[in-house]
Amino acid sequence: MSPKPKAAPAAKPGSTSDILAAIRAQGAKGGASGAPPETATAKPAATPKAAPAAKPGSTSDILAAIRAGKGGAAAPTASAESPAVKSDVGPAAAKASGGVKPSVEEMLKAVRGDTASAAVAIAAPVVPVKPTLPPIPVKPVAAKDKKSAGTDRRSFVAACLSPMAIGFGSMAATSLIWLLDLARFMFPNVLVEPPTKFKIGPPSDYPLGGVSTKWLAARGVWIVHTDQYKGRNLIYALASVCTHLGCTPNWLEGEQKYKCPCHGSGFYINGVNFEGPAPRPLERVGIKLASDGQLEVDKSVKFQEEMGQWEDSNSFVEGTLA
Ligand code: FES
Repeated sequence: MSPKPKAAPAAKPGSTSDILAAIRAQGAKGGASGAPPETATAKPAATPKAAPAAKPGSTSDILAAIRAGKGGAAAPTASAESPAVKSDVGPAAAKASGGVKPSVEEMLKAVRGDTASAAVAIAAPVVPVKPTLPPIPVKPVAAKDKKSAGTDRRSFVAACLSPMAIGFGSMAATSLIWLLDLARFMFPNVLVEPPTKFKIGPPSDYPLGGVSTKWLAARGVWIVHTDQYKGRNLIYALASVCTHLGCTPNWLEGEQKYKCPCHGSGFYINGVNFEGPAPRPLERVGIKLASDGQLEVDKSVKFQEEMGQWEDSNSFVEGTLA
């Protein structure tokens, strides 16, 4: 049963359906052996409407291109593609395209009138697009400087730690120490000591029976006013140095004696030793009554009791009874 021929839609010349119908009709007319019978019966209805399109790229042009290029029968799909190429662009363009078959959409576009652009699109060889490589990142200058600075630092440290550098450094340090010692040797040693002579005030400041420790810390002497040495009223200065090994004894007011904290030597108020390892009495230093009425002590001279020096008039000042 043959289908009832469909009336072609109010067709615009050059629409897809028109073109396909025209191709099928033409194939049937040209005696195509491979065309299906349904297609052949359907084509007569469509052909009259597609034919009026007389502009370039119309159905007649397409069919002419098909006949010229392939000589007749072709499969419906193939005949739909080839005519567009051959009618608008021609066989030469098809050859120039390198055998690339245009798509159906391109052929339709060419049939509708945009023949020139379609021809160009079809004829243009397919050029493979080169992938665009990303730009090579440029190393920042600061990073380069930092790297070079790190390299320089490592080189400097390595150079400083080399055996030769250590040897030369040690030699330079030794030479510097020698030079400093030589410079120090050029200057004399100066020992600043308090003067050996100093005034301690009038005799009235030292009452009988008392031991003054006023000058002990600054001058290292006790000022003694006593009558317990051979019954004589005397004022004299005792050096605060233990005659055993040189420690400084303490004056004990309650016990009226000097007591050495080192080995326990004891001395009477007049300086004579009486206990402990001390072998002899404390020593006196020079004392005299100055012209201004003050007592003047001279530590540059010493007087030892065991040697009879306490009888020297420079070792005491006669005290008053007051
Ligand atoms: Fe004074 Fe030894 S130093 S008792």
